[in-house]
Amino acid sequence: MSVEAKPSGRKGTPIPTPTHHLPGTDTLGEASVYVGDCREVLAALPAVVNRELDLVFADPPFNWNRDYHRWEQSDKASRVWDDAIPREDYLAFTREWLSLCAGGLKDSGSMWVNIPDDTAAEIVVYLKSIGLTMVNWCIWHYRFGQNRQNSFINSKVHALYFCKDPKQRTWNPAPILEPSDRATTYFDPRTLDKKDGMPAGMRVPMDVWYGQYWGRIQGNNAERRPAHDNQLPEIYLERVIRCSSNAGDLVLDPFVGSGTTGVMARALNRRFVGTEFSPDNARGAFERLGLGPARPLGDGLNAATNIFAARKASDKAKRRMSSQTTGANLYGK
Ligand SMILES: C[S@@+](CC[C@H](N)C(=O)[O-])C[C@H]1O[C@@H](n2cnc3c(N)ncnc32)[C@H](O)[C@@H]1O
Repeated sequence: MSVEAKPSGRKGTPIPTPTHHLPGTDTLGEASVYVGDCREVLAALPAVVNRELDLVFADPPFNWNRDYHRWEQSDKASRVWDDAIPREDYLAFTREWLSLCAGGLKDSGSMWVNIPDDTAAEIVVYLKSIGLTMVNWCIWHYRFGQNRQNSFINSKVHALYFCKDPKQRTWNPAPILEPSDRATTYFDPRTLDKKDGMPAGMRVPMDVWYGQYWGRIQGNNAERRPAHDNQLPEIYLERVIRCSSNAGDLVLDPFVGSGTTGVMARALNRRFVGTEFSPDNARGAFERLGLGPARPLGDGLNAATNIFAARKASDKAKRRMSSQTTGANLYGK
């Protein structure tokens, strides 16, 4: 089956007008946020219908009965997404927005979906069935899963990475490289003379993602936006956007939430378009788009992820390793 953008099916549907819009500058991408059900907005959005999307990042409602609107009661909007719909309805909803997003991709485009265990497999099977190719099944590992006694504690979400055409996929590993274990832990000189095109001592990150800024966005975290308990870390979106799009590209997030994708896309000079069901979430995200990221771009992005203590090695070997590798934060964070 080929990837088709589902037509709106409503001839004459007016082209939606963004509810919030920020013009681009020399260094910041243009950003538009539309309030509404993503299925309705995307079906009528020219960028989707004309297949102009370079990158889609989607962090959908999980149907876990979460309150996606936690603003103070006086400001409570009438439109809050029902996050406890029957399973079959949720799967139908999921297939519908997946088809729309996949159908709007350019041939060089990629699509990422952030999804927990209970629906990851269904999404993988469905995206394959509509013609996308899986590039990676990444895991975002965190350490704040709810404590439980009768089964293992949850500590991951799946970051499913698909592309439209593997031969044309946009892929920029250079900005996201990290020091290899050979450099940080084993002082193995082979990493100084690599034949894989990577700089000395560096590698493409592994498909399990963790590290200093990858944990929970807690109340005392500089990134924290009020009233959002499902906000993703900035570093997660920085990695995704840098490696799978170029400056000037168009990034779509159908589930804007607190606005993490838009903030990082705009800061990285990509054009951003997002949809959000809750008017108040959209307003909060728009405010955040104007503020920009809470941490400097690149902070922690190239940090080592070794988990074992460095092997014993001579001072000479250590000096050689650190002078010949380009790895930022090689022995630090
Ligand atoms: C998991 S949150 C996204 C969080 C976001 N990635 C962040 O970092 O803040 C999902 C968001 O999707 C919104 N939403 C749910 N159903 C929607 C729909 N049909 N169309 C558009 N937005 C929807 C919810 O209101 C919520 O804000």
